[in-house]
Amino acid sequence: MTTSQKVSILDFQKKKEAHQPITMLTAYDYPGAILVDEAGTDIVLVGDSLAMTILGHPDTVSVTMDEMIHHCKAVARGTKRAFMVGDMPFLSYQITPIEAVRNAGRFVKEAGMEAVKLEGGRDMAETVRAIVRAGIPVMGHLGLTPQTATKLGGYKVQGATADSANQMVDDALALQTAGCFAIVLEAVPAPVAKVITQKLAIPTIGIGAGPDCDGQVLVFHDILGLFDKFVPKFVKQYANLRQPMLTALETFCQEVASGRFPDAEHSFKMDESELARFQMLKAKDE
Ligand code: KIV
Repeated sequence: MTTSQKVSILDFQKKKEAHQPITMLTAYDYPGAILVDEAGTDIVLVGDSLAMTILGHPDTVSVTMDEMIHHCKAVARGTKRAFMVGDMPFLSYQITPIEAVRNAGRFVKEAGMEAVKLEGGRDMAETVRAIVRAGIPVMGHLGLTPQTATKLGGYKVQGATADSANQMVDDALALQTAGCFAIVLEAVPAPVAKVITQKLAIPTIGIGAGPDCDGQVLVFHDILGLFDKFVPKFVKQYANLRQPMLTALETFCQEVASGRFPDAEHSFKMDESELARFQMLKAKDE
């Protein structure tokens, strides 16, 4: 059940324990945030996927801290209820823990986010610890980590072998010990995500990780059928809004070209006597 009460970090643990699925949706701007918030999502993630969905880059690596902050500020203005997480962009947290804390702090101080998300396993434990120590909650991200997709050999399912699945369990435990409050599992075989979810005290949030995670996340443009460059196997399009949007835009262009828009209904009238006076004033000038 959705209430109007603000979602807090404490709710996720309670939901895991009560076996109530957590929902997370991405949003990148003010109108998108209003929609996902009104839809009742528990978490709104300003994902670095905005590099692709909003900025038109071929991958997520090129989005900058300033661009992320700009979009997070807009999302914060539109979000009333959901818990807000800002995604740390590539190289904003990998260089040193000090730099990571400084950048995580910008998400909270400048952009109004309540937590940050970063990608990586045990190698990131020290960084997670430093950010959490500074008082900023951290969400982890394992499996297919798009910022390092090149290293992974592309956008592929992860943890598909027994050894790599085992490593992923250890990574998840390391992130939990470091202080993460939740972990995203992306493109992970369902049985592996199930084991990780059972082993962790903190919630898992799956995207292409099967039904046994504690929560599910999808990308705004994927759910609504607005991003059709490619549609991953795990994406369910709940609507195909691209076509009606395109039709509306095309119709505007056609109606302007043919003179059908604007019509009387969409134009302002003028009081008859004021119009007559205006015409007289104009006639005097000529
Ligand atoms: O950037 C993003 O949208 C994400 C989600 C896919 C979890 O990281």
